[in-house]
Amino acid sequence: MKMRSVGIIGTGKYVPERVLTNADLEKMVDTNDEWIVSRTGIRERHIAAPEQATSDLAYEAAVRALKSAGMTADQLELIIVATITPDTSFPSTACILQDKLGAKHAAAFDLSAACSGFVYSMATANGFIQTGMYKNALIIGADTLSRITDYTDRNTCVLFGDGAGAVIVGEVPEGRGFLSFDLGAEGAGGDLLKLAAGGSRLPASEATVEGKQHYIYMNGREVFKFAVRVMGTATEEVLRKAGKTKEDIDLFVPHQANIRIIQSAMQRLDLPEERCVINVDKYANTSAASIPLALVEAAEEGRIKEGDTVLLVGFGGGLTWGASVLVW
Ligand SMILES: CC(C)(COP(=O)(O)OP(=O)(O)OC[C@H]1O[C@@H](n2cnc3c(N)ncnc32)[C@H](O)[C@@H]1OP(=O)(O)O)[C@@H](O)C(=O)NCCC(=O)NCCS
Repeated sequence: MKMRSVGIIGTGKYVPERVLTNADLEKMVDTNDEWIVSRTGIRERHIAAPEQATSDLAYEAAVRALKSAGMTADQLELIIVATITPDTSFPSTACILQDKLGAKHAAAFDLSAACSGFVYSMATANGFIQTGMYKNALIIGADTLSRITDYTDRNTCVLFGDGAGAVIVGEVPEGRGFLSFDLGAEGAGGDLLKLAAGGSRLPASEATVEGKQHYIYMNGREVFKFAVRVMGTATEEVLRKAGKTKEDIDLFVPHQANIRIIQSAMQRLDLPEERCVINVDKYANTSAASIPLALVEAAEEGRIKEGDTVLLVGFGGGLTWGASVLVW
């Protein structure tokens, strides 16, 4: 069977209006701008308004993506929302969004792979479209990490922000679109980065609230080591699968968690920083939204031209990683 070529045919992004700066955080916990910038590269992050949930951020990004693809919502056949901060456990955020958009003909589900969720979702949609099951899909990485962040814990609260990035994927001319994917998981490292309570293992109770178990727990140093390692190995593997070398890549779009992780990966791969998108300074780590926010922003700024080869690579809770090479 001849597989169809699948690629990105529309893009959109959204970040909430409110900006939380390092100076604001100095008033909340024992930290300072110099520490945050030198250890993470982050200067500010956007925080959702109290009435905004993940589906609201996703909706804004989705509307923009549909517009850029020249499509209406009722033409959509599939919606995947990559998120670890769904509006509710169920219904899924994708179903809530399907209703808000009026995407009556779309199947809809959430995908949970933390910061790797967007690449996992694109790989999933690619499979559906390549084989002809669906003609198009709306893929959104959206997270409202501020809702699961402990703003009394300086080890984590400086690192995260809220946002959403969306793409529409569909059939593209041969030679364009996705060339390869590399997805992986190391479940054994799951305890290094997690939200302990609120699921079937540890349902919400007074004790879980008191124990702050509804907030992100992270072993920063171990996650850092994992991140640098898999950014390198996943990049090499996804290039090999695409039959490309790192010299062929016009733009690297890494997960925006920490500028030092990005710099270590770029050094390890011996690549100049000019070929890499960095916006962690403005948005911090927005989990599943991070890669699409960086990709869409780069496209909107004219940093990606038609025919350019782009490499996406991310890592996150699970532990997971995901990478893709695509021709724009
Ligand atoms: C979290 C992270 C920035 C910490 O940086 P680091 O250089 O490893 O810092 P350390 O953990 O060595 O901590 C150094 C000191 O800074 C302190 N510190 C931590 N956060 C601080 C803050 N916001 N302000 C000031 N000091 C802080 C620590 O308490 C520690 O003090 P101690 O030595 O007295 O205990 C880094 O480990 C990291 O980015 N890890 C990966 C996180 C990540 O990407 N997570 C998401 C994955 S998707």
